[in-house]
Amino acid sequence: MARTRRAFFCGNWKLNGTIAESLALATDVRNGVASLREVDVAVAPSFTALHAVAKRLQQDGVDGPVMVAAQDCFWEEKGAFTGAVAPSQLADVGCKLVILGHSERRQLFGELDAAVNLKSRAALRAGLTPIICVGETLAERDAGETLGRIQAQLDGALADMTDAELERIVIAYEPVWAIGTGRNATPGQAQEVHRFIRTRVAMRAPAVAPKLRILYGGSVKPDNIRALMAEEDVDGGLVGGASLSAESFIRLVKEGSAS
Ligand code: 13P
Repeated sequence: MARTRRAFFCGNWKLNGTIAESLALATDVRNGVASLREVDVAVAPSFTALHAVAKRLQQDGVDGPVMVAAQDCFWEEKGAFTGAVAPSQLADVGCKLVILGHSERRQLFGELDAAVNLKSRAALRAGLTPIICVGETLAERDAGETLGRIQAQLDGALADMTDAELERIVIAYEPVWAIGTGRNATPGQAQEVHRFIRTRVAMRAPAVAPKLRILYGGSVKPDNIRALMAEEDVDGGLVGGASLSAESFIRLVKEGSAS
């Protein structure tokens, strides 16, 4: 069955890599996916490597086959905000996307839904595509609160966005219990939440929801991506550990976009 939405895979490198290591990995990924036509690919290096990687991935000033994403941003454009990075600064170094509301930001850095909303809207104003992450903890899943939790995160993150803005976002469903644990959600578990997300967006923006790309993240590997991508509402992957090796990430992108 032909996909209605273009597959999209983003490697989230988290806190890994010198500039040299990041350049080598990005170059290998680019070379490995350059011939693939039916898929969008991005990598998200650390802040310190963004500029170098973005420059490397542009070919003669023209965007290449692999886009660059940041892993976070602030919502203000400038001012007395020590340590913060503005969305326009990310655009300035060549980023096209920014991951926002990752569960590691929520859990380790105290990020709340309201902040995810402010960051996402600021990213949109700067011309970036926000990849907005939602996901429940194991305790929430065990308590039967998965969909309620997703709904609260989604409604918080998307508050006050226009339909035109909703059309430019990507959502990533990342169950916290599946991140870095080797225990991925089953395709059925992923599909249930992805369908819920699309339905929820459809209530606000019926014309946008069918086009919205919803990525799955959490122990995605080359050998489980095909089954996940076979689900109707799974449009790609946000990949941690398996994106740190070019060989496994390229294989994953090929497997995931083959069906
Ligand atoms: P893993 O693929 O290492 O489980 O990480 C998932 C993730 O958090 C991607 O953002």
